[in-house]
Amino acid sequence: MKAKMSVVASVLSATLFFSVSANAQDNLPHLEKRGAVTQLIVDGKPFLMLSGELYNSSSSSLEYMKPLWPKLAAIPLNTVITPLSWELIEPTEGKYDFTLVDGLLAQARQQHVHVVFLWLAAWKNGMSSYPPVWVKQNTKRFPRVVLHNNPVNILSAMEGYSDATRDADARAFAAVMQHIREVDGQEHTVLMMQGENEVGVLGDTRDHSPQADQAFASAVPAQLTDYLKAHRDTLEPTLRALWLQNGGNTSGTWAQIFGDTARADEIFMAWNYARYVHAVAAKGKAVYNLPIYVNTWLANDDNVPGNYPSGGPQPKVIDIWKAAGSAIDIYAPDVYDPDFVKWANRYHRPDNLLFIPETNGGKNGAANVFEAVGEHAAIGFSPFAIDGFHEGTTDLGESYSAIDAIKPILFEQQTKGNVHGFTLSKERPFAEFYMNGYVVHVSLDEIFGNHAESGYGLIIATGQNEFLGVGKGFRVLITPRSPSSFKLGYASIDEGTFKDGGWIPGRRLNGDENDQGNYWRFDPKSVKIEKAVLYHYE
Ligand code: DGJ
Repeated sequence: MKAKMSVVASVLSATLFFSVSANAQDNLPHLEKRGAVTQLIVDGKPFLMLSGELYNSSSSSLEYMKPLWPKLAAIPLNTVITPLSWELIEPTEGKYDFTLVDGLLAQARQQHVHVVFLWLAAWKNGMSSYPPVWVKQNTKRFPRVVLHNNPVNILSAMEGYSDATRDADARAFAAVMQHIREVDGQEHTVLMMQGENEVGVLGDTRDHSPQADQAFASAVPAQLTDYLKAHRDTLEPTLRALWLQNGGNTSGTWAQIFGDTARADEIFMAWNYARYVHAVAAKGKAVYNLPIYVNTWLANDDNVPGNYPSGGPQPKVIDIWKAAGSAIDIYAPDVYDPDFVKWANRYHRPDNLLFIPETNGGKNGAANVFEAVGEHAAIGFSPFAIDGFHEGTTDLGESYSAIDAIKPILFEQQTKGNVHGFTLSKERPFAEFYMNGYVVHVSLDEIFGNHAESGYGLIIATGQNEFLGVGKGFRVLITPRSPSSFKLGYASIDEGTFKDGGWIPGRRLNGDENDQGNYWRFDPKSVKIEKAVLYHYE
């Protein structure tokens, strides 16, 4: 690693930016469609980020972080999502300080851990606490929103009004990307970047500055109406319904096209935040082309925008964000809601892969990672506040270790659509899916009247009659899908593990361990890796 721990004080000029050659680009961490899924490719191979996100302030001090890295690596994580703030990168306009970038990369590399940087700049949780003081002080150059007739200390995202903010933010982000390119262009410790954090206006449905009111009363840009026309049949259903209810118009003001309600306000804000964040992301990518995602403060559809950041990439406005540009690769949910399955389903779309940048850790995280990775081919999973090492961290580590062990098979079979994942609870005690022409019935484990309270895992079809399973607290019955002349039984069930890609078998599971041949069981005690082989009989 390049031991460059310097304070770089330089005015970054446009001449510093040079385009990356196609070959070098190919070698960068990037997203690639492979068969049925899109994978994150690092140094030519698929990579699954078994990750955690730090508390907001931890990574502002290298001393503070120093003892944490070995503990994070021991969980075991292979990636840490790490804040990087505009205020510390550019404390004086045009003078950049990359001490933290260099120090964090050095610390991560010592533990062989990758990093995703969060660009905390104009907005974090809808507010503007992370810009440098020279931005905060200058309300003329960097205008604020007006909510309920009051100017509020939140930076405006209005296109045409807040362009100076956008350009200053983009310059700093491009400087960061330029530096990462210089110090990490070969090693690829940094895998992705997050643009801003949980953007949107808090406290009102939209910005009501005179400039925003004027823009709201003007025509919706053709770029957006063209997108609606072109994607009419595949728009997110609630957006499609709203547009069609209001006449399906392709020209008019925001209220004319989307109705004169808070929904139109939210769509208007989504457009403006999206235009801003795409522009910042594009400047960074022009210098160093890493995947960029944005994260979302989630709200149920019946909640009023402004109670949550209005304009953030909620499922109902992802299409608005997509219409606004192409520099953002992933729209990602921060899932603290207990219904993990619902949000995973809404964010995993044919045009949006699943990545979970923030969620609950502990026992919930240990379970939900299987749903994300198994059912949705998520490229990463990352409980928030990981450096709190809260109760349940060992459960998360147990899940991560088992998934890590089966990665080569997982990656290969994902591309063929041969993987399913699930989390089971008393409220959701069954899962059912099709594999190889069979029906796979998964339910909470049960033997001699002892019932598992929860279960989680994933199943991979590795051959017509061969399956690999990982998890705990469930049991599996496999039956023919259509009426058929044969029945199915388990020829063998073996527990084991993988070492250097090779299978090391452990116990042959029979008797009570497979309910006398009736079920493929994963007992609730610990996460196991097991192989099952089926036989046919008349
Ligand atoms: C979501 C934010 O993105 C995080 O930075 C943090 O504030 C968490 N909420 C706290 O739960």
